[in-house]
Amino acid sequence: MQNRQLEKLCLLARRAVAQTGTFIRQQAGKVGAEAIETKSHNSLVSYVDKTAEAQLVEKLGQLLPEAVFITEEDTVENQDGTYQWIIDPLDGTTNFLHQLPFYSISVALREKGETILGIVYEVTREECFYAWKDGGAYLNDERISTTSCATFGDSLIATGFPYYDYEKVTPYLEVFKTLMHGTRGIRRFGSAALDLAYVACGRFDAYFEYSLNAWDIAGGAIIVQEAGGRVCDFEGGDNYLFGGEIIAGGTQLMPAMEQLIQQHFYPSQP
Ligand code: IPD
Ligand code: CA
Ligand code: CA
Repeated sequence: MQNRQLEKLCLLARRAVAQTGTFIRQQAGKVGAEAIETKSHNSLVSYVDKTAEAQLVEKLGQLLPEAVFITEEDTVENQDGTYQWIIDPLDGTTNFLHQLPFYSISVALREKGETILGIVYEVTREECFYAWKDGGAYLNDERISTTSCATFGDSLIATGFPYYDYEKVTPYLEVFKTLMHGTRGIRRFGSAALDLAYVACGRFDAYFEYSLNAWDIAGGAIIVQEAGGRVCDFEGGDNYLFGGEIIAGGTQLMPAMEQLIQQHFYPSQP
């Protein structure tokens, strides 16, 4: 897709996302216990996630009729195709249901397997983070960039705690211990998409997490990259989208982050 076309599509997709953001905001604090389902261990969902997803599928489908979808809540069949929207209609569902303010909508568009557009909309603060390929990254119309922080001592790091896949807790806690001692602090906000958006605009210097799905990170990853940052998996490779493990940050801090994480998660590698 050509750059001008992509920019226009991004603008229209942002409008669609903001409309669904309004719906989610209106539902905050109104979801009763009887409306909450448990999909799997510690994974909750309500009509808000499902309605938001159906809205996004309808609106984004109209913008690009040839595109197929990968979505979290299965309101549409997940398919492979030349153009593919990857949608998390509500990232941070546990926060939303507990009336904590950190939750977002994450949308990405891929063309032949390459992400070309990303939107992360923070519902409570109405902050829209977005980027398109080779177009830069923005927060509500202002250009954003990752930090030039180069040392752990000056850094604020984001993560997500393991909450169902406890197999890698030991290396995770080793990394955590080093960062706890060596950085300004660690934050766990509970929305992976937002963690990435906050890296993109420099609020966080870096972020890492494992056991994620593509819909958690597809939108945020391209925003970090277009903001000048680096995104990789725990081995330093490109398999973060479907591999479940992700590190993202400003380019100056990333070598130290990657080295620390590899050392504990994949110790046999140099
Ligand atoms: C979750 C959030 C959370 C992360 C989890 C995700 P959900 O998404 O992104 O920050 O730690 O791994 O599953 O379930 O709220 O859409
Ligand atoms: Ca999610
Ligand atoms: Ca979700």
